[in-house]
Amino acid sequence: MAKARAALQRTAEAMPIHRDEDMEEDAEQTLDESADPLEESGRTADSDEEIEESVAEDIARFEESFSGINKRYRLINRIGEGTFSTVYKAEDLEYNNFNNSWDIDEHSNRKWASPGQRRRTSKRPHYVAIKKIYVTSSPGRILNELDLLHDLKNSEEVCPLITAFRHMDQVVAVLPYFQHRDFREYYRDMRISDMRLYFKSLFIALKSVHAKHILHRDIKPTNFLYNPEQARGVLVDFGLAEREGTDWHQCDCTLPSEERRSRIAHSHYAQTQQAGHQVSAYPKNDVRSSRRANRAGTRGFRAPEVLLKCTQQNTSIDMWSAGVILLTLLSRRFPFFHSADDIDALLEITTIFGRKKMKETSLLHGQIFETNIPSYSENGHSLEKIILWCTSRSGKDSTGAKIELEDDEKEAVEFLYRLLECDPTKRITAEEALRHPFITKAFEDEDGTSDVDIDFVG
Ligand SMILES: Nc1ncnc2c1ncn2[C@@H]1O[C@H](COP(=O)(O)OP(=O)(O)O)[C@@H](O)[C@H]1O
Ligand SMILES: [Mg+2]
Repeated sequence: MAKARAALQRTAEAMPIHRDEDMEEDAEQTLDESADPLEESGRTADSDEEIEESVAEDIARFEESFSGINKRYRLINRIGEGTFSTVYKAEDLEYNNFNNSWDIDEHSNRKWASPGQRRRTSKRPHYVAIKKIYVTSSPGRILNELDLLHDLKNSEEVCPLITAFRHMDQVVAVLPYFQHRDFREYYRDMRISDMRLYFKSLFIALKSVHAKHILHRDIKPTNFLYNPEQARGVLVDFGLAEREGTDWHQCDCTLPSEERRSRIAHSHYAQTQQAGHQVSAYPKNDVRSSRRANRAGTRGFRAPEVLLKCTQQNTSIDMWSAGVILLTLLSRRFPFFHSADDIDALLEITTIFGRKKMKETSLLHGQIFETNIPSYSENGHSLEKIILWCTSRSGKDSTGAKIELEDDEKEAVEFLYRLLECDPTKRITAEEALRHPFITKAFEDEDGTSDVDIDFVG
């Protein structure tokens, strides 16, 4: 790793780092937009699976261009194609020559194995995921991902970085291969009890990431590799992650509420309102500098404060994205939100939460929310109602009674409100979520006893 870091630093010196602040608005949008979850492919490949010709050609090209890679790894298949990388499954040919403390499966297997079994397991193939980061990514961005992964190497439910290599301008990160299933295969069938386990695993991961004051920024199903059979997942893809506090500028949301109110009362907007304009007037020559904030992430998963360009975003943005996953599971709609841009995304959120809430949320960050679209109601719709609509259960049953959600679904919705809380200061944290009844029920064994007092961070 130290070697890889030194190598990366050398690349960084040789090539100018293209900083986000210098980019044009559009370029920034394109670069920071992680792929739509529907466009991404991610799958678990069997080792003896036949591979497509185009994939075989791609692997051959990669082996040829990355000198020495095939001495260390036998590339088996292409398992993922994201926005910033292509990921291959490979056999680690030098497994036995190195310390493999990252291999948790091997540890638990060996713990219970007889000496004979141990000899056999050391001979079985060991798989890794090789993430080939696109050469178009800036060296700064690549270094950031590897650096954060390095810091998170002992974090529970976070896929650890084994090592990294560079050849010319190509950088690869090597991670343990994690057997998982494509979200699209199981999201329609998950029971509430399965959801508790899914989110327990996700929040264990987020708790350990957030404890290090790191924002993942791109929480979505394709970045949380989940194995429903084992009820275990790992968080991957720290390509957009950042340390809390990077580029922070004062945002109104951190001011005491009286000060915030006073700033609003003296704003240009308030003056135009006092002057009796029906619709707020916009200054002809707006001398205010345009507001810039990190908006990296995936459409449909961005928290309102990201869309509203809050300049002091914190780890709670990941909790909102986790809420979008829960909404997806409860409504059986994937993707749930499907906006073309940030404004569209704000309007989608407005459809649910209503104008009043969006106005309040915007003011929190010193922004004014206005829309002349008449179909948005003042108070929006309840999440219960939306889930009933999405699952075609609205209306009345055969006895004429109003159809309601099942009791465990109601419990899930209560928890969902804590995640999809528009005010980031009121949103539940990962640590609190692990203590919430919706999640603690996942710990209850068949006798109904609960071991919720376990401390999850090792
Ligand atoms: N450790 C791993 N084990 C198995 N599959 C992986 C692993 N890491 C990544 N993948 C697969 O590759 C896909 C892309 O990886 P990711 O790190 O998210 O890259 P990107 O930054 O390009 O989105 C993931 O969605 C997943 O399907
Ligand atoms: Mg990804």
